[in-house]
Amino acid sequence: MKKKNIFIKTFGCQMNEYDSNRIYDNVSKLGFIKTEDQENAECYILNTCHIRDKAKEKVYHEIGRVKKLYRNKKKPIMVVAGCVAQAENEEMLKREPYIDIIIGPQAYHKINDLLIEHEFNLKQEETEFDTISKFGYFDNIKNNNNKISAFLTIQEGCDKFCSFCVVPYTRGPEYSRPFNKIINEAEQLIENGAREITLLGQNVNAYSYKQNSKEFRISDLINHLNKYSELKRIRYTTSHPRDMTDDLIDCYSTSQKLMPFVHLPIQSGSNRMLELMNRKHTVDDYIKVYEKLKNINKEIEFSSDFIIGYPGETKKDFEDTYNLIKKIKFINSFSFIFSPRPGTIASKLKMIDENTSKARLNLIQKELFNNQIEKNKSMRNNIIDVLVENKMKNQNKFFGRNKYISPVICDGTENNIGKIVRVKIQTSNQNTLFGSVYNNMKAA
Ligand code: SAM
Ligand code: SF4
Ligand code: F3S
Repeated sequence: MKKKNIFIKTFGCQMNEYDSNRIYDNVSKLGFIKTEDQENAECYILNTCHIRDKAKEKVYHEIGRVKKLYRNKKKPIMVVAGCVAQAENEEMLKREPYIDIIIGPQAYHKINDLLIEHEFNLKQEETEFDTISKFGYFDNIKNNNNKISAFLTIQEGCDKFCSFCVVPYTRGPEYSRPFNKIINEAEQLIENGAREITLLGQNVNAYSYKQNSKEFRISDLINHLNKYSELKRIRYTTSHPRDMTDDLIDCYSTSQKLMPFVHLPIQSGSNRMLELMNRKHTVDDYIKVYEKLKNINKEIEFSSDFIIGYPGETKKDFEDTYNLIKKIKFINSFSFIFSPRPGTIASKLKMIDENTSKARLNLIQKELFNNQIEKNKSMRNNIIDVLVENKMKNQNKFFGRNKYISPVICDGTENNIGKIVRVKIQTSNQNTLFGSVYNNMKAA
């Protein structure tokens, strides 16, 4: 089989990263080899995200860049995948003739057929929601990802329809993969060297798979994964407050491997806004979950997502969000100004003044960033557990993460990779902790 280079550029969330790896597992059967050199590829994939801003325009801009890179060379097969592909579908082929293939997130099992058909110069568009066939197909293809920290999709899609969000339209209805297929894939990842697995889903804690009248939940997956001695850490993202059930909360006391860090998006601290956003939970519901988790393990830290300047947000609504951030000291969070997305209910609503949104975003980010800086400072001179993931490029330093997922840069040896080592933290900034390996003998 003739070897051909493939370059995959990934935007957006962790699920897109997982998908890019699975696309690669698939196309490698056709002889494609992943390259880091974006100027010398026979196939160029843009795996896109549609969550905010001018996502569509960004894709056309990227294609313009690729065109320039290949001006004097043979054009690569240009594939647009991901959520923009799903949302825009054949419109993109019409507008940009440089694109050869458009493929939505639920059609990745068909990418090899599309690449083969492309040899006959056919432009292709595949954006059917065919989730069951997709996962069924990929269940038979080994996951070759060999990262120390690996992603594993257990659930995809969303039925919640928050009024601002495109995900239900780009990823389709909620679907939970069969329990045993997820476990098979986790075993492959562990065999490939994974020491941390992050279970993924747009509503990961809504995972529900029924077999022989038993319902498997994410708590069952966590309890099962707990048994693999090589696996040191378990995480999951992104969860919804409404699906934070007691069986999952209990995992924080029964599983030593489940990291005490909960990313739980609230979006706003105002019940009025949550209602307008169709979030299906209140601030009180959120605080109850927070308190239950803190009661189970006071070490647990939280992060969240916030949308600022949602249509109708008053000064009082914003102050409610600000006060919530003062109350719950989130240690890192994502906050963005509301971005109207085509096809969503909120896209038809009147936007609030842009400068007001910007000023509000600044205020909450100041508070959120300050929490992050203070949390990192509090770890200085402490000896903490770090899972070392890799040696850094062009540096004699190693990269890892602490239990709260903060990046840690430390000295050490190749031998530390894939192990949990004790690191003495010397200094820190907003995002990163810096230190030295303290005592390898204590490595887990
Ligand atoms: N399923 C998760 C949940 O329920 O919170 C969120 C998944 S979404 C991929 C990630 C984040 O993007 C959301 O939590 C929200 O804060 C942000 N987001 C989604 N749509 C947005 C929009 N139209 N404007 C700004 N931020 C948005
Ligand atoms: Fe989007 Fe999450 Fe709401 Fe679903 S629950 S619509 S993914 S924000
Ligand atoms: Fe973006 Fe789609 Fe993920 S819109 S955030 S790539 S689910």
